[in-house]
Order: sequence, then C-alpha cells, then structure tokens
Amino acid sequence: MTRILGIESSCDETAAAIVADGVEILSSVVASQVEIHRKYGGVVPELASREHLRQIVPVVREAVAQAGMALEDVDAVGVTQGPGLVGSLLVGLTYGKVVALALGKPLIAVNHLEGHVHAVLLEAHIAGRTPKLPGVCLIVSGGHTLLYRVEARGAGTSNGARQFSYVRIGGTRDDAAGEAYDKVARMLALGYPGGPVIDKLAVHGNALAVRFGEPKMKGNLYDFSFSGIKTAVLYYLRKHPELQAEIDARDEVLASGERSADALRGLSSQTTLDLVASFQHAVVGNLVARTLAAAENFNTESVLVSGGVAANRELRARFELESAKRGLEAFFPSRALSTDNAAMIAAAAYSKFVAGERADASLNATPNFPLGAAARDA
Ligand code: KG4
Ligand code: ZN
Repeated sequence: MTRILGIESSCDETAAAIVADGVEILSSVVASQVEIHRKYGGVVPELASREHLRQIVPVVREAVAQAGMALEDVDAVGVTQGPGLVGSLLVGLTYGKVVALALGKPLIAVNHLEGHVHAVLLEAHIAGRTPKLPGVCLIVSGGHTLLYRVEARGAGTSNGARQFSYVRIGGTRDDAAGEAYDKVARMLALGYPGGPVIDKLAVHGNALAVRFGEPKMKGNLYDFSFSGIKTAVLYYLRKHPELQAEIDARDEVLASGERSADALRGLSSQTTLDLVASFQHAVVGNLVARTLAAAENFNTESVLVSGGVAANRELRARFELESAKRGLEAFFPSRALSTDNAAMIAAAAYSKFVAGERADASLNATPNFPLGAAARDA
C-alpha cells in the first residue's frame, strides 16, 4: 500500500490528507479561511498567505494523526504547484518540499485542476463506478470555469493509478461561475460565499420569472461568460428600488453574525426569491448546455463535473437529467470533495508516483499553471 500525503494551499483553504493507493481516503483535513475573508466579500491574498502560514503545520499534523500514522510512514508527498495565488501556493509547496526532503521521500507536483478531476474519480471509486473515457470535464468554482476533454493514457494497473491526458476546449471569458454567485449574493446582501445560500433560496422562487438573455459570444462555442448575467441582476435592482429596504435589512442581520438561509429567506420578498431562482437557472442552464454540446461534439461517454459550484443541487439535477437523455453518464464529487481539499491532490499525485514522476528542490509555485494542451480549434 502506498500512502501519499497531499497538501493544498492554492486559495483560501489550508488542507492536508492521506490517501492510500490513490483511492482510499485515510484522512482529509480542511481549514477554511472563509471567516477571515467574509467581511471583504472575497479572498484577500495577503490575509490568505498569512493564515496558511498559521495553519499548515497543525493541519498536516492532524491529517497524519487522523490516518493513525506517523509522518515517517508517508511514502510520498504531493503538493499543489498551481494554479492559484502565489503567496498561498508557496506556503504549502515549501512545507511539502521540506517534509519530503527531511524524510527522504519522493516529492510530486500536482496541478490543482487535475486534482479537481481526481476528486470526481475518488468519489466514483467509493461508489464502485468507473467513468468511461473519453469524457468531458467541467471544473466550476470561485476561481475557475474550464472545460476539458479527458482521455485515458496508457493502461493503469488499478483505478487509482490510471493516467489521463487533458485538452482544454473552453473556459470563461470573464467571471468564473462561482464568482458570479458571490457577486450577485453581495448585491442582494445574501452573505459570503454566495453559492450555498442562493442554492437554498432558489428552490422557493420561480426560475422563469426573470429572463436573462443568452450571452452573445463569437468564436469558440464552448466558452462561457457570466458577467452579462451579473450586470443584468444589477440593472434589475436599479429598476426595482423598492427592494433596497429588504437588502438593508439583510445587511443588518448579516452584520449581526446571522447567516442562515432560513433567516435570509425570512427577509426576502417573492420578487427577490424569483430573481435568485432565475439567476441560478440561467447560470446552470448555460453550464449544462455548453458542456453537453461539447460532449456530443467530441463523442464522449461521460461528463465529469467538479469544483465548488458542483455542489449546487440544480446543477447536479440538470446534469443528471440531460446527460441521461443523451446516453451519457454524469459524475460528481461529494460536497466535501467538490470544494478545495487535499485528498484530490494526494489522489492525483498517486498516478504520477506510479508513473515515476518526481519533483526536486527546485520546484516553484506556478500561479498560471495550465492543465493539458489547448485545443487548436478552440
Ligand atoms: O472550489 P471552491 O471551494 O474554491 C475555489 O474557488 O477554488 O469553490 C468556492 C465557490 C464559491 O464561489 C461558492 O459560492 C461556490 O463555489 N459554491 C456554490 C455552492 N457551494 C459553493 N455555488 C453554487 N451552489 C452551491 N451549492
Ligand atoms: Zn479549486
């Protein structure tokens, strides 16, 4: 059995995990910084790196302890190299490097985006399923909205050791989908991060009440754009000044520390609930339509969806339904594996470990680290 310590610090989660043979999660510890960034309505890079520095040692120690191991028992260390915030990445990467060098264990560099793909595979393995490839993979979070074609490379000896190759076929031209959720939640005073609350409130609104036009984009059919929808919400609010009083009321309860979806719902008119439901319907509709168009065009067998927004209930339901209609199988990580974590990094590191990929002391953070090749016609 190969036990890999994964370390993730690319954004605002300090995370460490131990994964055996790329598939069995022995521990997964995530220290979220959401409380620190909340009052700014987004991640503040300087505060993020300072908090990673405080958390990295206890988080790694906790992950090793929860796995019932000592640090010396680790067979290799997998660290996120990028993409992400440089100051944040450097904390996890430097610590991972030091641990690997001190223990004389292999160091493996992992692309954070490949980690998100492995989160789906980890979950599929737990459920006893194996996605048929080629597949399309949508990575949709607060920082990314990217679409890839994923293929199997070589014949891995086990589920965890499978190797993959990636071609980028599309991505957002402006905001990431999660960023649009967070910005709209900020305009409506629904708290930070916005996704989970909007997810809960949308159930109570009429998704067809407000019509958002399709983003008009030339060129690549598989690119996304969300800034138009966000601006449409802003214009809607300008046209409806009567909503300001409830926005102020929600701001007030948020300032008091109350953030539950139920409390915010109690302070939301039907107009607001309809707006929220319509916003979500438009965003999800876009993500599903373009991803499935790509799946059909590239003749893939499966659809993998990962990243924080993959936790969204409407997104999951519509992907399930629309994929099934087309004879495609849809795969998602559990909620815990959707958002940033280190189990996905350790899992991604394992297939590299088996393939003999090693990093050395010269490894550096790569804030804009692309995954795979770009499609030539994309
Ligand atoms: O993957 P993640 O934890 O961090 C990165 O951005 O890398 O994703 C966080 C993002 C936030 O924008 C948050 O609003 C969104 O994911 N999110 C959701 C849901 N849960 C989290 N968006 C929609 N519905 C959700 N249930
Ligand atoms: Zn991420």
